[in-house]
Amino acid sequence: MRYLGSKVKLLDFIQQTITKYGIVGDSFCDLFAGTASVSDFFKGQYDIIANDFMYYSYVLSKAKLQNNGEPKFERFTREYKADVFEWLNSQTYIPDEKYFIYENYSPIGNRLFFTEDNAIKIDGIRFAIEELYANNFLSESEYFYLKASLIDCVTRYSNTSGTYEAFFKFWESRALKEFTIEPIEVSNCQLLRHHTIFNKNSNELIREVRGDILYLDPPYTVTQYASAYNILETIARNDKPAIKGVGGKRDKGSCVSNYCYAKKAKDEFEDLFRQAQFKHILMSYSNQGVVPLDELIELARLFAKDGTVHIDNLEYQEYQNHRSSNKRNGERLKEVIIYFEKDLNVIKSPLNYAGSKDRMYYAIQKHFPKHIDTFVDVMGGAFNMGINVAATRQVVYNDINPYIYQIVNWLLSTDKEQITQNVENCIQHYGLGKALEAPYLALRNCYNTTERNPLNLFVLHMYSFQNYIRFNSKQGFNTPIGVAGYSEDLKNRISHFVPRTPNVILSNLDYREVDYLTYPQGTLFYFDPPYLITKAAYNDGKRGLDGWSKEHEKFLYEILSMLNSHNYHFIMSNVKEHKGRTNVQLIEWAHANNFRIVEMGLSGWRYAKNEIIVTNIE
Ligand SMILES: C[S@@+](CC[C@H](N)C(=O)[O-])C[C@H]1O[C@@H](n2cnc3c(N)ncnc32)[C@H](O)[C@@H]1O
Repeated sequence: MRYLGSKVKLLDFIQQTITKYGIVGDSFCDLFAGTASVSDFFKGQYDIIANDFMYYSYVLSKAKLQNNGEPKFERFTREYKADVFEWLNSQTYIPDEKYFIYENYSPIGNRLFFTEDNAIKIDGIRFAIEELYANNFLSESEYFYLKASLIDCVTRYSNTSGTYEAFFKFWESRALKEFTIEPIEVSNCQLLRHHTIFNKNSNELIREVRGDILYLDPPYTVTQYASAYNILETIARNDKPAIKGVGGKRDKGSCVSNYCYAKKAKDEFEDLFRQAQFKHILMSYSNQGVVPLDELIELARLFAKDGTVHIDNLEYQEYQNHRSSNKRNGERLKEVIIYFEKDLNVIKSPLNYAGSKDRMYYAIQKHFPKHIDTFVDVMGGAFNMGINVAATRQVVYNDINPYIYQIVNWLLSTDKEQITQNVENCIQHYGLGKALEAPYLALRNCYNTTERNPLNLFVLHMYSFQNYIRFNSKQGFNTPIGVAGYSEDLKNRISHFVPRTPNVILSNLDYREVDYLTYPQGTLFYFDPPYLITKAAYNDGKRGLDGWSKEHEKFLYEILSMLNSHNYHFIMSNVKEHKGRTNVQLIEWAHANNFRIVEMGLSGWRYAKNEIIVTNIE
C-alpha cells in the first residue's frame, strides 16, 4: 500500500538490527503502526502490541494481526454460496444520500479523487461490509479483513500522488480502471501469539503498556497523517464528517501529531523515552527528520543503560558524522535505526527513610510532564525521587534537615568503594551487629560528643530503631537500637546511588526559603512534605527541628498556587484520608484551584496509607 514512511522495504534492516544487537524478547510494541507492515512481519516471532491514532491504521492492524493469511469467510460462503470478494465486486450499487465518497470526492462533488463509478462502488462496498457484519455473516476478524482490503484497494484507484490533500486535475490511468476489491496481503504464520491492538495517542498508550521491544516509527516530516489520509479515515470510520476546502478535508480532530512540529517533537520523544517500560527501544528515523539526529541521540543517552546509544543506517554502517544532521547540507536522505537499552532500574537510596518514594516512583512518574528541564526535589529526604529523574538540564536536591542533607551530600560526592570501606571499617571498629546494644551506644556516644560526621550518623541509622534519625532538643541523636543492620542490599544501594541526571545541585533550605522563581520554565517542582494527618518519625519528636503544622501546610499550598500562577508544574505527594482522619484543607484547596488529585494506592507496610498526588499537570 502506498503510505508515507511505510517500512515495507526496511523490514530486513529492522530484523538485521535486532540480530546485530542480540535483542531478545517475547513482546514487541509497534507504537506507530501505520499500515501494520512491521507488526505483520514480526507477528510470528513476538506477542505484538500495535497502535496508531488513525482509525484506518487500527483497521489494518486488526486485519493483519487477527488473521493468518486470508480468512475463510465460512458463514458468508455457507449462506451466499459465493466468494465474498467476487460477490462484493458483482453487486449493483445505487447511490443514495449515504454515498458520501460519491457525493464529495467524485466529479459529482466537483472533486476528482475517484471516478463516479469507482466512488459509487467504494461507498457501496463499505456499506455492504457493514451490513454483512451487522447481520452476523462475518466474524470480527473477517470484518476487519474486508475493511482493510477496501482501504488497501482504494489507494490503488485514487487520482492523487499518494496522499489525499489534493487530487490531480486530469485523470491518472490508475484512477480510470474499474475499482475492484481484492484480498489484502496478510502474512501466514502459526497464530500462537497473543496480539493486542490499540487506537490511541502514542504518548498516552506508552503509560499503559510494557514489554520487551519497543519499535518506534514516528512521522519525521511536517506532514500530518490525519490530513494526508483523511479520506481513508472517513472510509474506515464510515461516518459523514464535516469537510472543508478544495480538497474536502475532514477535520483532524484529536489526531494532530506533535511529532510533525519541530518545536514539539523533541518533548514528545523525551516523554516516550522516559515513560517506556520496555527493555529495548528501536526507533526508525531519518537524518532529515524534524528533530536532528544528534539531539535525539543525546536525549536517548539520558534514558539508556550506561548512556549507550547505537545508530545504524540502511547501508548497515555505523552512523559516523553526528554533526552533519544539523546542517543537512545536501546530504542524501538516510533512514536510520536508533537503538538503546532502556535503563529501567529504580535507584533506591541507601538511606532508609520514613516515607521513601522508591516503590511509588513509576506510579508518580506517569504523571510527569513531557519535558523536564529541571527537577527540584524540594523536600528531598533520602533523595529517592530526584535520583531517578532524568532531566535535560539538572536535578536539584533540597532538604531542611542538615543531618539528612549532609548524609546525601556525602553519599553522592564520595567514591562508592571508599564509602563501603569506611562503613565496614566503622562496623568492625565498634563491633556493631543487629540488636547489639553496647557497641551501638558506644558509636552513638562518639557521634554525639566528638565525631559528628555523616559516616557515623549513616552507620548509626542502619542499626537504629526502625532506622529513625531522631534528635533530642540539644541535637543529640537519641534513637535506641533496632533490629536491622548493614547488609548486601545496603552495599548494593550505596554503589548504585548515582543520579540519572549528571548535573545535580544540593541545598539545605527551608522550603519557604527556596528561590522558586529563579528556575527556568520547564522546571518540575516535587514536594514530599510530612503528612499532616499521619504520624511519621520526622513529625513526632520533631528531630530537634521544626515540626510540621497546619501553618506549614497552608504555606506550602500558597507556594504551589504561586508556582501554578507562574506556569510551573508541580507534584505534591500526600494523603487524603488516614485512620478516619481527612485532610479537609488539602481537598478544599485542590478543588478550589482545579488541581488534580490522583490516587496512588496503598503504601507503607506498617501503617498502610492511601497515598495521593496533587498536581497541576493536565
Ligand atoms: C512513519 S508512519 C508508520 C509507518 C509504518 N511503520 C508502516 O510501515 O506502515 C507514522 C505513523 O504514526 C502515526 N502517528 C503520528 N503521531 C501519532 C501519535 N501521537 N500517536 C499515535 N500515532 C501517531 C501516523 O498516523 C502514522 O501512521
